[in-house]
Amino acid sequence: MSVKPKAEIAAKPSKKSKSLETLRGFRDILPDEQAAWEKIEDTVRSLTRAYGFGRIRLPALEATSLFERGVGKETDIVEKEMFTFVDQGGVKMTLRPEGTASVARAYIEHGMLNQPQPVKLWYMEPMFRHERPQAGRYRQHWQLGLEAMGSDDSVLDAQVILMAHGFCRELGVETMVNINSLGTPAVRKSYVADLTKYFKGHAKKLSETDARRLQRNPLRLLDSKEEGMEELKAGAPQIIEYLDDETKQHFMKVLEYLDEAEVPYTLNPFLVRGLDYYTKTVFELVSASPFGENGSQLSLGGGGRYDGLIPLLGGREATGAVGAGIGIERVILAMKAAGSMPDNKRTADVFFCQLGEAARRQGMKIYEKFRQSGVDVGEAFAKGNLKAQLEIADKMKSTIAIILGQKEVLDGTVIIRDMEAGAQEIVDVEKVVGIVVKRLQDREDKQREAKRAEEKKKNT
Ligand code: HAM
Repeated sequence: MSVKPKAEIAAKPSKKSKSLETLRGFRDILPDEQAAWEKIEDTVRSLTRAYGFGRIRLPALEATSLFERGVGKETDIVEKEMFTFVDQGGVKMTLRPEGTASVARAYIEHGMLNQPQPVKLWYMEPMFRHERPQAGRYRQHWQLGLEAMGSDDSVLDAQVILMAHGFCRELGVETMVNINSLGTPAVRKSYVADLTKYFKGHAKKLSETDARRLQRNPLRLLDSKEEGMEELKAGAPQIIEYLDDETKQHFMKVLEYLDEAEVPYTLNPFLVRGLDYYTKTVFELVSASPFGENGSQLSLGGGGRYDGLIPLLGGREATGAVGAGIGIERVILAMKAAGSMPDNKRTADVFFCQLGEAARRQGMKIYEKFRQSGVDVGEAFAKGNLKAQLEIADKMKSTIAIILGQKEVLDGTVIIRDMEAGAQEIVDVEKVVGIVVKRLQDREDKQREAKRAEEKKKNT
């Protein structure tokens, strides 16, 4: 679809004022949520490093034809959900609705087929889809993508599934993997022919939407949620019975690797996914803690093998590839539902207090020295009152407060206050950073020693 004129995509109406608001389906990610995002980013970095995935940062805009060819002209994404426009130079472009087509383009464009295969890439980028907004469904969402290109080895299918599952688990979200095999395009062709025949035989029972799906993309009938479809689907032919020996073996191996790695999965013969590039393995991850509208199950992630995509976009024939995409906002909703959101409270080992204009001025320089020495230091320069500043230090769980007043500025000193004992001492301003660094180090050493002793006691 094309981007609608401004009036149609007007900001959410507000009764109170005419102030500007975010567009429908778009959201700000406020500081409260950042601890979760940072935890996610740390988890992504360690996971992708361990499995040898390099990061790729993709442009937000691509030629519309990339998605038309890659994702498929008759998919929901391309038919209804793309933000497409023609720029000042007359070029038709689209805000990327997903990352796989872009990564496949980059693989070809940068000659990555000449590198050792497989080439493994990851991205974490916003995606844009003009969908009906609801909890867990936005018009801009962030996706973690994992793509392993240049190999058709089933161990890679298992690896991306294991990584997607492990990623969620490390964030406190248990998931179940639904898995299926869609076979090769040839297999799918004969399957779709039989599926069409079957549903045509039951055409009268189909809703208007499903009748349309039967005309345009019969595979989509398998994930229809329309009334009465469960029964109809139960009698439909299943793709698994059509798989050729090579695909069957490939799929069996994926399942064996998953068994070995203890990744829980369910075979779901109706899982087809909504993008045309898939071949062989397809999968989706569902959270054990539902978070969607009315407790509905929105998938946390999905993916599969796409052996035909790179050749389709102009790359070398027979370039196998497999990948996964995980919705970050949905993972956060699942973390909330599972009670695994990290604590967002700011703490600081040291808190810097200042009293009076001269102290504030000199304090800014001293504060920078603490920060540059790697000390975890907090401040409230906008406050003038000592009591208020010490209260903040308490909230930040600081064990040391530095106090700089008018007198100290004149004397060239500062006060170091032990926040637990309440004891205070006056030290030379030039030496304070070194003293505090040393004190923090001593404390850390003592804590490490105590921990070691405790562990030793436990083990004996
Ligand atoms: P997808 O299933 O369309 O696959 O999207 C992947 C994930 O992105 C979904 O499971 C969901 O968590 C999240 N997501 C999708 N749409 C929205 C939305 N409107 N709001 C919030 N979250 C959303 C792909 O995009 C494929 N490129 C995945 C892939 C990578 N296949 C192979 N490699």
